[in-house]
Amino acid sequence: MAITPPPQKIWWNEPIEKIELVWTVVAFLWGLFMFGFMIAWHFIGQQNLNKEAYRITPSNYEAKVEAFAKKFTVREEQGVPVVKPPAGTDVYILGRLWQWWPILELEKGTSYRIHISTLDWMHGFSLQPVNINISAYPGYEHVITLTPTESGEFGIICNEFCGIGHHVMTGKIYVTDQKRAEVDQRLAAGR
Ligand code: CUA
Repeated sequence: MAITPPPQKIWWNEPIEKIELVWTVVAFLWGLFMFGFMIAWHFIGQQNLNKEAYRITPSNYEAKVEAFAKKFTVREEQGVPVVKPPAGTDVYILGRLWQWWPILELEKGTSYRIHISTLDWMHGFSLQPVNINISAYPGYEHVITLTPTESGEFGIICNEFCGIGHHVMTGKIYVTDQKRAEVDQRLAAGR
């Protein structure tokens, strides 16, 4: 039984079982293979993030996001501005204890440069349900290029543990379909 001491107290001098040796070798080779793939995915992966990032102080980043929000706010939702930037422009979002701010409204089929940073410490930018995951750090302004291909409502959740409010740290991105809305309007008007 495992709770009693082994009969040979000096167990490390016993010859190793063949099956244990086989498993050790298999696990080691698999580990090496996976390690190699970490490097390979850097070159062959289709999901690598843009490597564009800049140093910035959190307070400068906050000022940038606030100016951006002030300029393009179209409405508010529970005190949080919903910001609709012109199609194809630079878009700013920030993470802090405990929210992603502001809410964005983007246009389907248009490319945006999305700037992401945080004001206090590391947060996770996890766009759901499409599952795009980015770690965001204070002091680094990360830029990704994103083209929404579907309209609807997308959630951002924080997926890096950031304290007592981590589980309520969320944000939102709306994607609208302007062309579709125009067609619907024309149909409704009977033209
Ligand atoms: Cu922010 Cu977890």
